[in-house]
Amino acid sequence: MRPYRAQSDYRMVLDAQCDLYQLNFPRFVCTAAFVAEQGQRLRQAQRRPFENGLFVLDDGGRAIGFVWVVMRMDLQGPFGSVDQVYLLPSYRGRGLGKLLMERAHEFIRSQGVSVARLYVTAENGRAVALYEREGYQMTRYEMERMI
Ligand SMILES: CC(C)(COP(=O)(O)OP(=O)(O)OC[C@H]1O[C@@H](n2cnc3c(N)ncnc32)[C@H](O)[C@@H]1OP(=O)(O)O)[C@@H](O)C(=O)NCCC(=O)NCCS
Repeated sequence: MRPYRAQSDYRMVLDAQCDLYQLNFPRFVCTAAFVAEQGQRLRQAQRRPFENGLFVLDDGGRAIGFVWVVMRMDLQGPFGSVDQVYLLPSYRGRGLGKLLMERAHEFIRSQGVSVARLYVTAENGRAVALYEREGYQMTRYEMERMI
């Protein structure tokens, strides 16, 4: 694991955005405007290193996954929000997700915060299983129905 480097990693993180959102939001349609917006978010994140932890998993010089944590505050106090966890498809199912999560937790701790939180789509069984193994517990339900 190493810190994100814009010059070499920007493309991989941006290219992952459509896949990441399509996997997690069944009705999501990826557009060029969405990708451009994510690119802007990514560039802004780099300018706020205490608020954003961006780390890349590197396989012999090739970026194969990343984790993006954002420090946030709500009515319950400060927490580290694990916003994005991603591995290239051929690197999934090998236990590498754990490395990304551990790095995210280390970043949150280094900011003096002891709560990590995330949102995950119920159908994304692989991600849910990873988070449960990492000690996450369900705290809220988001419910929807078709009208
Ligand atoms: C979600 C994601 C990060 C999970 O990471 P992952 O490493 O693929 O996680 P997995 O749970 O599949 O890894 C563990 C698997 O590897 C196997 N494995 C092999 N070696 C292992 C090891 N040393 N330690 C742990 N597991 C190991 C396990 O048996 C397990 O297999 P199983 O799923 O068949 O039980 C990854 O699949 C991904 O990038 N998905 C697409 C993006 C996404 O949906 N992100 C989440 C958004 S909320």
